[in-house]
Amino acid sequence: MKGLVLSGGRGTRLRPLTHTMAKQLVPVANQPILGYVMRHLADAGIVDVGVVVAPETQQEVRQYLGDGGRWGFHITYIVQERPLGLAHAVKIARPFLGDSPFVMYLGDNLLGSGIARAIEDFRSDGPDTLIFLKKVADPTAFGVAELDAEGQIIRLVEKPKDPPSDLALVGVYLFNPIIHEAISRIKPSWRGELEITDAIQCLIDMDAMVKGEILDDWWLDTGKKDDFLAANMTVLDEYTIRDVRGDIDEATTVEGRVAIGEGSVIRESIIRGPVVIGPGVEIADSFIGPFTSIGMGSRISGSVIEHTVILEDAEVVGVQRLEDSLIGRHAVVRRGGRNMKALRLMIGDHSQVEV
Ligand code: DAU
Repeated sequence: MKGLVLSGGRGTRLRPLTHTMAKQLVPVANQPILGYVMRHLADAGIVDVGVVVAPETQQEVRQYLGDGGRWGFHITYIVQERPLGLAHAVKIARPFLGDSPFVMYLGDNLLGSGIARAIEDFRSDGPDTLIFLKKVADPTAFGVAELDAEGQIIRLVEKPKDPPSDLALVGVYLFNPIIHEAISRIKPSWRGELEITDAIQCLIDMDAMVKGEILDDWWLDTGKKDDFLAANMTVLDEYTIRDVRGDIDEATTVEGRVAIGEGSVIRESIIRGPVVIGPGVEIADSFIGPFTSIGMGSRISGSVIEHTVILEDAEVVGVQRLEDSLIGRHAVVRRGGRNMKALRLMIGDHSQVEV
């Protein structure tokens, strides 16, 4: 069984963060999403992993994953010149995949449970394809499955205007090599992409065995700000364990499940978990509330922050209350001088500010 991780594409929905970084590398609880994906593949015993990358972002993806040794993998990089669809990515990965069964994992999907049990089921049950489904509030943003009374999949549609159900396709797929035949039969969709959803529909039309399993655990597509904050909250809640390092003065209180990295300096503050603070962070005279993660090298002073993600090397100074926010790398949020009512902003392209 091989693994195929899709880490190309465009990050349009997480702009402006993804102007300067691959969306799969945006950190959730201070770890790139791709790190969780790799961990799940490793836990399932996968060793041979192909990673599809885009020319624009491949360098940083390669830098993060390296040769995969950290997870016990042998990684093969596959450059997709243009994001022509998930099925297109499988097509260009064919030399790597050969005739092996494989698990395809979308690099921006985050699953609560791993995939080890699913792979076992796939091996023992022997369907041609195993997909996962999850109830979502807005199915129009996903691939959607229609089931019959027995729970068998009868139809799959990609981002339907009029969804036949509220069951979305999760971004993890298990395939036998028959998928390549289906991919060779499909045409690009209205958005100009070779859709994996259409290829699986084609398998159904070919009378191949396509099995759908409803996912019990949580699943998050980290594509947009609110989904991303929800992902951060869920992961902080589930995984944070208390591990306090760094230099913390007597006047600081650290409550609950808080992880603080090496070299951080905290003065006269309250940190209330679940919170993850990276290495080399400076915090003074502040309250850092639940569901916040602060990236390496950031500086916070005189501020109250809750339910917020701050990436690396950012600065927040004198902000009375910052919540439900996403602050990019090297960004600065600072309370202005004399005229307290005036806002002074320098905001990058595609930024959003609520005042
Ligand atoms: O997240 C689950 C959804 O993922 C499914 O419900 C949909 O059926 C499926 O089509 C997909 O929809 P998205 O529109 O959210 O896919 P997105 O374009 O965000 O791409 C998913 C991942 O694959 C992302 O990490 C980028 C990568 N990718 C994407 C394309 C189009 C590639 O590597 N190459 C590509 O050509």
